[in-house]
Amino acid sequence: MILRKKWSVEKGAPLTEMDKKILAAQKQGHVVPSRKLIKTPEQIEGIRRSGVVNTGILDMLEKEVKEGVSTLALDEMIGQYTQDHGAVSACMGYEGYPRYSCISPDNIVCHGIPSADTILKPGMIVNIDVSTILDGYYSDASRMFVIGETTPEKQRLVDVTKECLEIGMKAAKPYSFVGDIGFAVQCHAQKNGYSVVRELCGHGVGLEFHEEPEVTHYGRPKTGMLLVPGMVFTIEPMINMGKMQVHFSQEDGWTVTTRDGLPSAQWEHTLLMTETGLEILSH
Ligand code: MF3
Ligand code: CO
Repeated sequence: MILRKKWSVEKGAPLTEMDKKILAAQKQGHVVPSRKLIKTPEQIEGIRRSGVVNTGILDMLEKEVKEGVSTLALDEMIGQYTQDHGAVSACMGYEGYPRYSCISPDNIVCHGIPSADTILKPGMIVNIDVSTILDGYYSDASRMFVIGETTPEKQRLVDVTKECLEIGMKAAKPYSFVGDIGFAVQCHAQKNGYSVVRELCGHGVGLEFHEEPEVTHYGRPKTGMLLVPGMVFTIEPMINMGKMQVHFSQEDGWTVTTRDGLPSAQWEHTLLMTETGLEILSH
């Protein structure tokens, strides 16, 4: 076992307002972040610049994602845009992942591997998830794209999932808790007759691809890690139209699908906690 790290302040150093709030939460038994999770102004600036490139990729895709295009062709565009902007894809080579992005249509929950054989067709709802490293700083975001027109049922899933992200963001106040986010997301999804995927979650991001804390999209208020200004993390709810159970492909080692075959949607932002609330660093 290892000893959980405590927030400590140099002997004799005056306590900042932040120190006082963290120490108070710790005294009440809450999990608090390590110093490394609270980014310096310089680090935040780096992550912000990475986020601009990452957002630029998704903006570029808005006019490229359409009927007849393969997900591999979109992935190649993502690779090219990333390179043209002096950045590197965080996905390519990550734990052996073979492409620049994850592209996940319909019943694919996440980590769909771009392929020449996956051609976008009218009615599909597609998540494209891109993650960028610029000057060593990481950002991560995903959006849903609707190919032509889809059914009202699938469109509602896309819209409600976006609302889940927005409602989760509203719940993330400075000095609130990760569980406040999960609770808000879960309530909104379930109120709409949907389920929340539990096996995958949001995460701290910035100096590495995946840092602490785990940002689950379900939970209870006032549980989980304290959210302190300077922390950078994603919220990225995966919401299923049907049951929450998912299947991990043993064949390609990546693709996650819904067990019941019904569609799933996801939206993701990279977010900075500030003294007044969240700032979006990539959307
Ligand atoms: N971009 C995903 C996330 O939101 C992670 C993808 S890992 C990959 O955290 F290797 F599949 F790219
Ligand atoms: Co992410």
